[in-house]
Amino acid sequence: MKKVKILVTGGAGFIGGNFIHFMLKKYSHYRIYNLDALTYAGDLTKHKEFETNSNYKFVKGDITNREELLQLFEVEKFDYVVHFAAESHVDRSIIDPGIFVKTNVIGTQNLLDAARQYGIKKFVHVSTDEVYGELDLDPTTFFTEDTPLQPNSPYSASKASSDLLVRAYHETYKLPVNITRCSNNYGPYHFPEKLIPLTISRVLNDEKVPIYGDGKNIRDWLHVLDHCSAIDLVMHDGVNGEVYNVGGHNEKTNLEVVQTIIKALGKSEELILFVEDRLGHDKRYAIDPSKLEKLGWKSIYNFDTGIAQTIQWYVENEQWWNEILNGDYQKYFEK
Ligand code: NAD
Ligand code: DAU
Repeated sequence: MKKVKILVTGGAGFIGGNFIHFMLKKYSHYRIYNLDALTYAGDLTKHKEFETNSNYKFVKGDITNREELLQLFEVEKFDYVVHFAAESHVDRSIIDPGIFVKTNVIGTQNLLDAARQYGIKKFVHVSTDEVYGELDLDPTTFFTEDTPLQPNSPYSASKASSDLLVRAYHETYKLPVNITRCSNNYGPYHFPEKLIPLTISRVLNDEKVPIYGDGKNIRDWLHVLDHCSAIDLVMHDGVNGEVYNVGGHNEKTNLEVVQTIIKALGKSEELILFVEDRLGHDKRYAIDPSKLEKLGWKSIYNFDTGIAQTIQWYVENEQWWNEILNGDYQKYFEK
């Protein structure tokens, strides 16, 4: 039987990596191509288990290299594209916005052109709730798919720009697309520059955990495997041209998240260090996922069990994150 070909971009990263595992385990008739430039955030350790699987192929490549991309499409004739590749860290976008525009906007446009030229069944663009800007602290307000785009950081502005291009390629060229906008993910292989893995790794090393501002900013945490099941559903059943928000109603202040981790690891809250606030720091994110739920999605993880399993994973995989912390990452963290 001819295998269905799926191009996953950014599959050496946190969510794309988990998505590839999820799909390879669930489907035997899909051949997954992982196109990744292996930036500082890319790492293939997570695919050791699958590197010899004939349904998996790694292709080192950069989505900003248009010619290379077109050639890959010409040779492989993909059926689906699931697009994760991006610069993803808000703090880095504040330090250096240029690479965010290059990768997230130009890279996405290149992929859209290739998908259009070679024809595909579906282009799933993995976006973020940050494109909606921020909510106030009123717990009854949520981001819906109709919330206006009001990105506040260079990262979210670059993602919003790419969302608009994806939308335009559907309206203009009838490219079959979906956009997903997910809240904050957590789980295995989360790069230790983001709040949860940064906190776990620093607490395990008895190092201070920096909390920006007063720690009262709120994020809506979703286990990465719940995000993967959402993308799987949208890829197969999403109505062309539609946007789907993804979130599991797990709203926590940053301080609550850090305190939960410190308690689970039996350490002292003296490790908390309140530091200068992030520039343009969004107050609160919270997702209304009802449109996706009507399509058939349901989250499986609640935060308490998900975070306990995640902490355990970091305890058991110290070598993975220690190698990252001992590399170039250290220079960025000091900055
Ligand atoms: P990540 O930073 O862990 O991984 C990004 C991957 O993209 C890396 O493997 C990197 O090597 C690759 N990459 C970067 N530039 C590239 C280029 N020019 N060409 C090819 N590959 C390139 O990111 P993540 O946290 O896994 O996020 C994946 C996607 O999901 C992003 O689009 C992000 O905006 C979105 N998202 C993330 C979250 C979250 O909480 N992490 C939530 C919602 C949406
Ligand atoms: O909402 C989805 C977004 O979630 C994704 O689009 C982004 O790719 C992803 O990085 C994430 O963005 P955030 O900025 O919300 O995640 P981060 O882990 O960087 O920060 C979470 C919160 O914790 C935020 O309010 C800032 C705060 N924080 C973060 C770090 C790294 C701290 O207080 N201290 C820190 O050291």
